[in-house]
Amino acid sequence: MRSSQWKFRLWPASLAGRTASVLLIGLIIVQGLGLTIHALDRMDVQRLVQARDLAMRVVSLYRTIVLTDDARRPQILKELHRGPELSAVLSPLPPDVNLPGMPPIEQRLLRINMSLLVGGGPQIRWRELVFYGNHPMRRVVIGMHLPDGEWLNVSGTVEPLRPWDSPTFLVAFVLMTVTAAALTLWTVRRLIAPVRTLAEAAEALGRDVNAPPLPVDGPTEVATAAVAFNTMAARIRRFVQDRTELLTAIGHDLRTPITRLKLRAEFVEDDEQRAKILVDLEELEAMVSATLAFGRDARTTESVSSIDLAELLRTILDEAGDARPDVQEKLGYDGPAHMAVQARSLSLKRVFVNLVANAINYGGSAMVRLLSPDNRLVVVEIEDEGPGIGPADLERVFEPFHRGEPSRNRETGGVGLGLPIARNIMRAHGGDVILANRPTGGLRATVTLPV
Ligand SMILES: Nc1ncnc2c1ncn2[C@@H]1O[C@H](COP(=O)(O)OP(=O)(O)OP(=O)(O)O)[C@@H](O)[C@H]1O
Ligand SMILES: [Mg+2]
Repeated sequence: MRSSQWKFRLWPASLAGRTASVLLIGLIIVQGLGLTIHALDRMDVQRLVQARDLAMRVVSLYRTIVLTDDARRPQILKELHRGPELSAVLSPLPPDVNLPGMPPIEQRLLRINMSLLVGGGPQIRWRELVFYGNHPMRRVVIGMHLPDGEWLNVSGTVEPLRPWDSPTFLVAFVLMTVTAAALTLWTVRRLIAPVRTLAEAAEALGRDVNAPPLPVDGPTEVATAAVAFNTMAARIRRFVQDRTELLTAIGHDLRTPITRLKLRAEFVEDDEQRAKILVDLEELEAMVSATLAFGRDARTTESVSSIDLAELLRTILDEAGDARPDVQEKLGYDGPAHMAVQARSLSLKRVFVNLVANAINYGGSAMVRLLSPDNRLVVVEIEDEGPGIGPADLERVFEPFHRGEPSRNRETGGVGLGLPIARNIMRAHGGDVILANRPTGGLRATVTLPV
């Protein structure tokens, strides 16, 4: 639990977050390497400059001393201006200091510089050179064995190497890093945007097969994905259309034989049998008409618009009350006075008309409750106080032509298409219809609709 929380915090959930993190980490590594290379380079240059500078001063001191005769040397040495960081002594012995030998790179640099600078013939050339220094080359001692036997021992301090000592560089570096980071974030956001668009389009297609197609633009991969998505949407649309058309065609073709059968039934001599046959045929005709009506509805593509759901529910209850004055007392609405939702208004009305009619017809009352949106879902509950539906039938009533009452009594209802159509419509909106028996008796139909 703890570790997964940590993982969640360190590793972003979104694709944009992950891509940006990887790129930013890469940027930090590259910048770090660049900074190291720059620092090492600068240190090399500084080492060169320092060696040259020191060699110049030491050699000029040496030349002055070597060209002066022995007796005057100590005097001259005292008078010479050497700068505060350089001290020199004449001694019969090489320098006796408690310092390790100078690192080979610095030794070589100093030796080359000094040899180049001193020039001249053997009368001024030193016999021997010794170097001591401590890392990182802050204190340096150089011993020069003069041609006539004495040692000139010079000791000095040099500045430590400062690889970062450049204000412009640091400003430029920070500016560069910030710009690169900003550019990375911006690009990632832009590149990932089509993924979000695709997800939204898939969501929209789930709610409405007739949702507008995705624009085919942007980078090739995105355009290809959009084309593939649009093709898929078109195929789904055609599939749904084909099925509906098949249904309507069957319904349509059944009408003629039914009419013929009705005419023929008139010739049945047995009165009772004739009456029964005619009732069956009437029922068959009603089923066919309902099927045709459903097919017609499904084919007319009503557009999604903003409708006041609270108003719609109240109107349906009013109309139901007018049609059935006997149950008017038992109809009620509970919920906000207005609530705007995006839906197909005629289809939505069909759903609630059927559910309210069912509650009245099979439950003898209808209590409609509109709950405020929770989790981007609007919920409508329609409750009655009737017998409810046996648990085994709660899902079966959603099958076409399934009726709780097998006698198909015309007075208590229709043909058993109301609930399947209601569920069909709500699922096309991205919602659903669910039935459940209330613990206190009666049935509760719950309609969900995303907002
Ligand atoms: N509120 C309810 N209480 C008890 N039974 C119900 C309730 N609502 C529906 N039913 C049962 O579910 C069956 C199917 O309902 P559905 O609305 O699909 O068809 P119908 O009302 O019979 O006909 P139609 O709605 O097509 O005119 C009903 O015949 C009924 O037996
Ligand atoms: Mg019904």
